[in-house]
Amino acid sequence: EKGGYDHFMLKEIHEQPKAIIDTYRGRMLPDEGIIRMSGIDNHMNKFLNAERIIIVACGTSWHAGLVGEYLIEDKARIPVEVEYASEFRYRNPIITSKDVVIAISQSGETADTLAAIKLAKSKGAFVFGICNVVGSSIARETDAGAYTHAGPEIGVASTKAFTTQITVLTLIALKLASKKGEISKSELRTFLQKMQLIPKKVEDLLKIDEKVKEIAAVYKDAPNCLYLGRGFNFPVALEGALKLKEISYIHAEGYPAAEMKHGPIALIDENMPIFVIATNKGHYEKVVSNIQEIKSRAGKIIAIVTEGDTQVKDIADHVIEIPETEEALTPLLTTIPFQLLSYHIAVMLNKNVDQPRNLAKSVTVE
Ligand code: M6R
Repeated sequence: EKGGYDHFMLKEIHEQPKAIIDTYRGRMLPDEGIIRMSGIDNHMNKFLNAERIIIVACGTSWHAGLVGEYLIEDKARIPVEVEYASEFRYRNPIITSKDVVIAISQSGETADTLAAIKLAKSKGAFVFGICNVVGSSIARETDAGAYTHAGPEIGVASTKAFTTQITVLTLIALKLASKKGEISKSELRTFLQKMQLIPKKVEDLLKIDEKVKEIAAVYKDAPNCLYLGRGFNFPVALEGALKLKEISYIHAEGYPAAEMKHGPIALIDENMPIFVIATNKGHYEKVVSNIQEIKSRAGKIIAIVTEGDTQVKDIADHVIEIPETEEALTPLLTTIPFQLLSYHIAVMLNKNVDQPRNLAKSVTVE
């Protein structure tokens, strides 16, 4: 049942190239520059007339929502807010029929997300679901939606659900961008052709497992870790920290790299490992100066860089290279080493990887 892997989580990490293909298959035609998503096509006016899009979700799905915000605002130029479903439902939010709500949930059963959807519907908003489990409560409760087609996710720590949610959000952002004339047909074609190369790049990245294992062995006993990223990779930093907390029980925090100097920098000393996403686009020089600030305080730097990087390599204690791609697509790659790292640390610490303490796969109580 685990397909030869020791844990479901590792199996699911390795399923990502296929899961991403299954998610975009039939939806994007790169050479023609076409994206077909019936849930969007059938309700295009709702999206085009939306004054804003509100994304509601919990946990990892909320992190995917943040990537979605960056994607939809950057590409389609529609204002987006991302909210924890649990906060949204209880804070008397302003919702009107001009809002489109996107609810994201792997299980489709998360109580707070379901309640947020019901609230949004009662105020007249159009609610679109991004779910993995077919026929789940959230899939049924929403007005329209798109499945992620990731296949069953058994490990409590979400992995392939995250990357496939980002895949769907990317398609939505591009589809809206193209419909609104924010990107040309040829730009769309080029972007989709790059997207089509992602599964193979994820597959290549999975081969760095041994290197990640070595890094895991060095830092497995750290009591605290920081994860930093900027732009599209800020949510990946949050997700990296969540993965480590969940399965290895090591305290970890994700931050936008520039926020470090507003507080967390006080934590940095020679015992603090800091995982930094420093890919070549996306404010590279700014991240390099953040890394220098860490270095001058003796923090240990583990950086995710783009192949061929030299600047960060000179400063960091360890680097993990990811293949070159479009900046907006980098979260699909940068997240992979973090998943593997958490996995190996948890295994080395003898933790229950697939069923960490205190956690449930579907949180059906609030
Ligand atoms: O099924 P959902 O996507 O609605 O679940 C949301 C969270 O409970 C979930 O992502 C949780 O944070 C995971 N354990 C993260 O790995």
